[in-house]
Amino acid sequence: MDQEQLNIRHTPVMLHEVLEHLIPAEGNIRVIDGTLGFGGHCEAILKHNSAAIVLGLDRDSEAIESSQHRFGMMEDRVIIHKAKFSEMSDVAYAIGWEKVDAILLDIGVSSVQIDEGYRGFSFRKNGPLDMRMDASQDTTAAKILNRKSIEELTAIFRNYGEIDGAMKLARAIVSRRTTRSWASTEEFSQLCEDVVPSPRRNAPPVSTLCFQALRIAVNDELIQLEKAVEKGISILNKGGRIGVISYHSLEDRIVKNIFRRESTDCLCSKKLPICRCGHKASIKLVTKKPLEPSQTEIINNRRAAAAKFRIAEKIT
Ligand SMILES: C[S@@+](CC[C@H](N)C(=O)[O-])C[C@H]1O[C@@H](n2cnc3c(N)ncnc32)[C@H](O)[C@@H]1O
Repeated sequence: MDQEQLNIRHTPVMLHEVLEHLIPAEGNIRVIDGTLGFGGHCEAILKHNSAAIVLGLDRDSEAIESSQHRFGMMEDRVIIHKAKFSEMSDVAYAIGWEKVDAILLDIGVSSVQIDEGYRGFSFRKNGPLDMRMDASQDTTAAKILNRKSIEELTAIFRNYGEIDGAMKLARAIVSRRTTRSWASTEEFSQLCEDVVPSPRRNAPPVSTLCFQALRIAVNDELIQLEKAVEKGISILNKGGRIGVISYHSLEDRIVKNIFRRESTDCLCSKKLPICRCGHKASIKLVTKKPLEPSQTEIINNRRAAAAKFRIAEKIT
């Protein structure tokens, strides 16, 4: 696939809002794009502020290679590292950045990752049960389905997919593997459709939620997000901003809770007459509610429909 095809296949979400709220148009700013992907947001940031330098991270080697190709001629403005976004402060220190002015996390998977059947992210394409964003990682979706206990599988589908009948599904997974190991997305999707009741008529296929839950477990996505937002806040310059685009209520809740906690002075119980914790707010919310994509954007890019964009500014 050439670069132009990749660019067409992943349209950056809420681009206008990202530039307006996160990236000052002028000044020598340091930006971390923690989810570089195929570089859509990054390219727009570089154009929006001609003095900005971007540290781009991704845990996916294919995304890294593609972005290296895309920004090959801009070495002085784009520094690219294969890393998890939870490691952003270590990578930033390693290149001599103690603080940064803006951080963008556009989490989840890219359209390019979803569209490639061999990556195993989609139930619409048959392929191996892989789902790793970082192909050098040991844990795959197949390993989880073939090795985890009924209790562990139930927790994955209940907590990450909010699936009714999570235990029934977990039992069916374990029962089936006594005769044949789990290997393909098609087989797993078929089991989900057979076992999990559809929440309502015309609801999306239940495989959507089951695959999402499994993907979150394979890539440890919620822990990654929590660490990244906390570290991100800690390395922002005063006045710098962090913005997170999420596509799932569990992810949005994590961002909302950290932003709420870090924008509050005292975390003691309201019943205590005086503060004992000494906690001081380090950020303020830029918008009280998360921003959502416009109807026009949703019509042009269905993937944007679930997006929620929260932004906070460092105040200390
Ligand atoms: C929605 S895409 C980002 C697309 C990008 N903003 C663009 O415009 O092309 C999400 C990207 O984040 C990466 N990613 C997800 N979780 C990550 C993590 N914990 N650390 C680093 N990269 C991650 C994925 O591999 C994927 O390439």
